[in-house]
Amino acid sequence: MKPSLKTLFPSGCEAYVKACCQSFTEAHGRRPGVHIRTFGCQQNEADSERIAGMAEALGYEYTDNPEKAEFILYNTCAVREHAELKALSLTGQLKHLKAKNPHLLIGICGCMVAQEHRLDDIKNKYPYVDFLFGTASMEKLPEYLAIALKQGKRAFYPDAEYGIPEGLPVRRESTFKAWVSIMYGCNNFCTYCVVPYVRGRERSRRKECILEEIRGLVKNGCREITLLGQNVNSYGKGLYEDYGFAELLSDICKIEGDYWIRFMTSHPKDASHKLIDVIAAHSGDDCRPKIVKQFHLPLQSGSSRVLKAMNRHYDREAYRSLMTYMKEKIPDVALSTDIIVGFPGETEEDFEDTLSMLEEVRYDAFFSFIYSIRRGTPAEKMEQVPEDVKSRRFARLLDTQNRISREKNQEYVGRVERVLVESVSKTDASLLTGRNEKNRLVHFPGDAALIGTFAEVKILTADTYCLTGELVP
Ligand code: 5AD
Ligand code: SF4
Repeated sequence: MKPSLKTLFPSGCEAYVKACCQSFTEAHGRRPGVHIRTFGCQQNEADSERIAGMAEALGYEYTDNPEKAEFILYNTCAVREHAELKALSLTGQLKHLKAKNPHLLIGICGCMVAQEHRLDDIKNKYPYVDFLFGTASMEKLPEYLAIALKQGKRAFYPDAEYGIPEGLPVRRESTFKAWVSIMYGCNNFCTYCVVPYVRGRERSRRKECILEEIRGLVKNGCREITLLGQNVNSYGKGLYEDYGFAELLSDICKIEGDYWIRFMTSHPKDASHKLIDVIAAHSGDDCRPKIVKQFHLPLQSGSSRVLKAMNRHYDREAYRSLMTYMKEKIPDVALSTDIIVGFPGETEEDFEDTLSMLEEVRYDAFFSFIYSIRRGTPAEKMEQVPEDVKSRRFARLLDTQNRISREKNQEYVGRVERVLVESVSKTDASLLTGRNEKNRLVHFPGDAALIGTFAEVKILTADTYCLTGELVP
């Protein structure tokens, strides 16, 4: 049985917030609005869905319009400076909303404010922000709200203890696609990355809790489940002796139903042959559920020298042999990766090694990033690559991958693809948008009633980022 908010927070904070929401509702003929804006990765999306779930359980009503909200929360990212600057600039704009509605509560949470210098920045430069909390304690939201509502004083909650939020209510954005966090935090300390400092050490959820959550989702007709963790391949470490990610995936596959299983992110140093064998066994076209034939394996750099400086614990050869095994076991697997250009000390030759790996592996898609200095990480103190060199390499990297993606997408033309229909296209209301199991975007004309179902689509044309087709009758 799921614990109620009351048993999770016996302090009476939730009762106080509920009473405030109730009197607002009576006075205004509507429930107070909550608006959450999420920056960054899927883990943050998943956290925001839980925070929204808690706020709804307390008496708020979700709104997409910040102007109609009595409580606005920004869930921030710290992976690159760009994400932080965007969140700060949008926080600046909230000043006007607060001026219009002095009762508005503004909270900022997530990875950015888990860093002391950013917490201080907001404390000092954004006086209209009411409270801040990091990534460790979102389950204390009722306390934060109660204190803000009752005392009207600003409060800042630096992360103290990193736990595993279990049993929280959740307001999912989609009825047919769901994020399921299987672990939190990271132990890897890649030298460029801030995540281990802002999300704490690795900790895995108990398998029973994960399996129960997935059973519930499947029962409710969910069509796609994405398992989340900073490094899903080390699932179970410190919790179980002989039970890891491969075993978890096998157990999930016993929950029968017509749905796809995705997962991210993997770390090459922990991606085992055993895991690849499990994927191969459960990714056949008649598997229900089906582990998608798509594997995201961040390479970061094709140069063994740079990988060492990044503290990645694998080299070019080890990565390559993993790819060879993968392609042997699942010949039509779609591969994707993350690449950082301009890591400190990266030479032209190192960069050429990255380009040659793109040509060799022939990824279907990639996410590429210009290295961004993160305060407190070892790479901050290393010799930096000049900005113009980084930009030039970035452009070459994009050109190379775009050509490969285009060529690979062309291979779909004439094929019939099973597509999970997601929405009406944002740019053309006569088209629906979905994705095939390999995560390729597919546009096709069709009825909006198909949203949330699988459709068979014949692919007619392809370009770098998407495929276009028609429904197969
Ligand atoms: N600069 C640029 N990219 C980064 N990433 C992580 N830290 C940085 C950084 N400091 C990228 C990595 C990671 C992805 C989520 O973000 O490629 O896999
Ligand atoms: Fe960051 Fe490396 Fe952990 Fe990924 S594995 S979150 S890149 S430290």
